[in-house]
Order: sequence, then C-alpha cells, then structure tokens
Amino acid sequence: MANALKLGFGPFSAPAKGTFVVFCDEGLKFGPATRRALGRVADLVTRAAKSERFTGKKNSTLDLVMPAGLKSARLVVIGVGKAAELTPKDFIRLGGLAIGRLPAAATDASIFAELPHGAMRAEQAADLAQGACLRAYAFDRYKTKRKDDEKPPAVRNITIAVGDVAATRKAYEPRVAISDGVVLARDFVNEPANVLYPEEFARRAGALKKLRVGVEILDVKAMKKLGMNALLGVGQGSARESRVVVMRWNGGRAGEAPVAFIGKGVCFDTGGISIKPASNMEDMKGDMAGAACVVGLIHALAARKARVNAVGLIGLVENMPDGNAQRPGDIVKSMSGQTIEIINTDAEGRLVLADVIWYAAQRFKPKFMVDLATLTGAIIVALGQEYAGMFSNNDQLAERLTKAGNETGELVWRMPLAPEYDKMIDSKFADMKNTGGSRWGGAITAAQFIKRFVDDKIPWAHLDIAGTGFDSRQTDINKSWGSGWGVRLLNRLVADHYEK
Ligand code: BES
Ligand code: MN
Ligand code: ZN
Repeated sequence: MANALKLGFGPFSAPAKGTFVVFCDEGLKFGPATRRALGRVADLVTRAAKSERFTGKKNSTLDLVMPAGLKSARLVVIGVGKAAELTPKDFIRLGGLAIGRLPAAATDASIFAELPHGAMRAEQAADLAQGACLRAYAFDRYKTKRKDDEKPPAVRNITIAVGDVAATRKAYEPRVAISDGVVLARDFVNEPANVLYPEEFARRAGALKKLRVGVEILDVKAMKKLGMNALLGVGQGSARESRVVVMRWNGGRAGEAPVAFIGKGVCFDTGGISIKPASNMEDMKGDMAGAACVVGLIHALAARKARVNAVGLIGLVENMPDGNAQRPGDIVKSMSGQTIEIINTDAEGRLVLADVIWYAAQRFKPKFMVDLATLTGAIIVALGQEYAGMFSNNDQLAERLTKAGNETGELVWRMPLAPEYDKMIDSKFADMKNTGGSRWGGAITAAQFIKRFVDDKIPWAHLDIAGTGFDSRQTDINKSWGSGWGVRLLNRLVADHYEK
C-alpha cells in the first residue's frame, strides 16, 4: 500500500502548515475550537461560501487556497448537514472526503474533529480516522514510471485534533484491525492472477498465524481423500493446483460452536471449456473476492481480539481450459455424495462452494454459516453495484445482516429461495445440474443449487457479491478496484450479536 498515512491524534491547536480541514453544519456553523483557529478567516469563509453557493450540505466541500490570516496553505471546509443526524458510516465517509480533498502532493494535514456543538465523541473521531485510512489506500505496486507531478509523497502526516486524545486512541484500535482487514482483502482482489494463484493465496493467508489464527492448508491429495470432487473438477484444467484453507480464530468460550464464513476463491475464471468472451475477461482475476473477504474478516476479528470463535474456509482454484479440463456433460460426485452434471463449466463457483460449505458444516457444526461469492452476472443485472444479493434459510440471520448492512453501508438485499426454482436444476442423468439452463433468475438458481449442500438446521446466508466485490462505484472511502466489500459488514454482524 503506497501513500502511507501517518495518522496521529492531538489536541486542538491551529496548524502551522499544510492543509487544514474543518467541518461545519448547514448553517455554516463551526465549533468553538475551529472558530478560534480560524480567527478572522471565518469572515473570508462566509464570503467564499456565498460566491461558491456552499451551504454546508452533507458531504459538500469548499476549498480556500492560501487564505490570508492562516499559516495553512489550504483550508478545506466540509459540510456535515444536520450534525445531530450523523451516524457512524457518515463519519467514516467524512474521513474519506477529507483525504480526498488533499492536493496530490500534500505531505501534511490537520483535521479538526469538531462539530458545531463541540468536539466529536471518541468513537466518531475514530470513525473519521478509519475513513481517512481506507480512502488513502492505493494499489500501485506495479507502477514503475510516474511523471514528477503524479508522484505521491512517500508519507503523509495527518493529525486529527480531538477533544479526548486518550479515549480516541483507544476507540481507534479496533478500527485499525478492521481497516487492515479491508486493505488485506483489497490487495488480494487487485493482485493479478499470474501472481496470486491458489498456492500463493494460501501462503499469504498463512500470515494470519502471526495473529494466533490457526491456519491449515488442504492440498489436492487431502481434498481427494475427503471426496471434494466438485471443487477438484473445476481446478483440473489448470497448471496451478487447487487448495482449501481453513482459518480458525478462538476468541470465545472454549468448546463453543464457531460462526463460519466461506469464500469463493476462483483466482482466475476463464469460464473453462465454456470459455468466456474476451471483453472484460481480465476482471475475472477478482473472482476470488469472496475468499479475500473471508481472510480480511478473520484478520479483523483476530487483530481486535474479538470474543468469538470463528472459522473461515476458502476454496481456491483456477478455472482454465486445457486437455485435462472438465467438459460439459461430465458428472462429478461431490463430497456430500450428491452427483452433479456439468452443463456449463463457467458455472464453477457453486461447485467450489458445494464442497467447502459441506465440509465446513460437517467438521465445525457452526452456529451459522455465511458464504460470499462473486457468483453470477445475473445478480448485477438484478441489483447493480450498490447492493449485494442475499439468500437465506433463516429470517433472523437475514434481518441481522440487513441491519449490519445499513449500519456499515455495505448493503444487502434479500432475494428469494423457493422449491419452485428447484426443478430448473434437476438433471436427467445426475442428482442435479450446475445451471438452470435459462438466464432467467440466474442468481436464484445458483443460490438454490448451493442450498442443496446446506443442512437446513444450520442458519445460512449466501451473499452474491459479483456486483460489489470489485469495480464497484468509486466511493469516498475507496478509489481502488478491489473493494474489500463484506469485511466491515460481517465484522459488524459478529460484534452486534455473537461476541460474549
Ligand atoms: N465469476 C462469474 C460471475 C461474475 C460475472 C462475477 C461478472 C463478477 C462479474 C461466474 O463464475 C460465472 O461465470 N457465472 C455465469 C453463470 C452461468 C454460466 C450460469 C454467469 O453469471 O454468466
Ligand atoms: Mn464462471
Ligand atoms: Zn466465477
């Protein structure tokens, strides 16, 4: 990660250089410390606001260059709208906005975490800092040439002035764990597939051991022994071997059933013999965004020492066409014993999930399971890139996810599961086929397929993140391609309901 932020907290005092970032409400009202630091520049702000029609509306900004009367080279005023209505995700976004307004070459900035009625609370200032950190992420490790004016400074010193420095530092600690998890997930998604193939992905997941996470890697031999033929069939056309990684974080009571997260990790999806068209195929290096989220989440939980037992399982394969590749018409026997007729080798994610979900349930008897997968183009047709599709056999889990989504801004929209869709995936030759045959309801038939590998006694939710895992809308807290979507959502779910 370039553009390294050196982020620190301090008391309110007028900055001597760099960019000065302050907040006002929709009445253009500043807090007392901000007013003191601005001094007579406040007048200038009022006049500039008038001419720029800046009214302090939420997330709007006003820039003043070299404001006479300030030592700062630039003053950025950010509107918060109605200060009393701000929620945690708003503060995260404001932090992202603040970093976004810094000139490319800026090395120093001071952000006053103050609202009109006074200093932001410690949690609010910490959220602001988290947003700043997420926004500063850039994936540029492969850029070797830059014009001088495009070169970002090696380090940016950001000071956030707060009311209670010690309390804010404390509140910021778990948020660092979470944003590190998001950044880790983004790195995985952005990395190209010649670098990040299943074995390398598994090796990098092994770094979680440093946080006292148990990491086991199942190789092809181990998977054969377990009978994971649905997963292995997907990977058999690749020169790269498949892997499953099991990550275990035990922060809860000894012996208590864990919560389980399962990720689709197709390191590259060519479609296999049912090969995809060339246009945008490069995006399929991101077909492991589900697995990336699971690793990022386990990182977040372990790094903030979450008081929960959690397991993360990821199925890592590369879907390639070659002489040994799986064919349409092939029939494979999954670990569950159910047989699958392969109709389309491009419907590979569900084959990977079928075995990993089955294995997770058998081995861990989890309290609930959530799987994440960039599973279908159909979910993008249905929901675009704002909401992920959610399918669940359990209303309580679905409601909790919806709530966590609204709190974090990682939104999920519940989609139907119903036996009526089941007949679309019945097969003439095997227990089921891997596509519904028609494009209609493609995200639903995919979910309905996965459901056949879920024990209905276990609450389960499937999140189709094809639209949100990468290339989602550029937001105020992410300018890179990989989004790290789901880490904050699932961390919230755990924190709200499953920590002792
Ligand atoms: N990885 C793709 C889905 C995808 C598409 C993710 C675009 C992100 C962006 C998945 O493996 C796939 O190819 N799905 C097919 C299923 C079809 C063959 C039934 C699809 O959606 O077209
Ligand atoms: Mn595919
Ligand atoms: Zn895929």
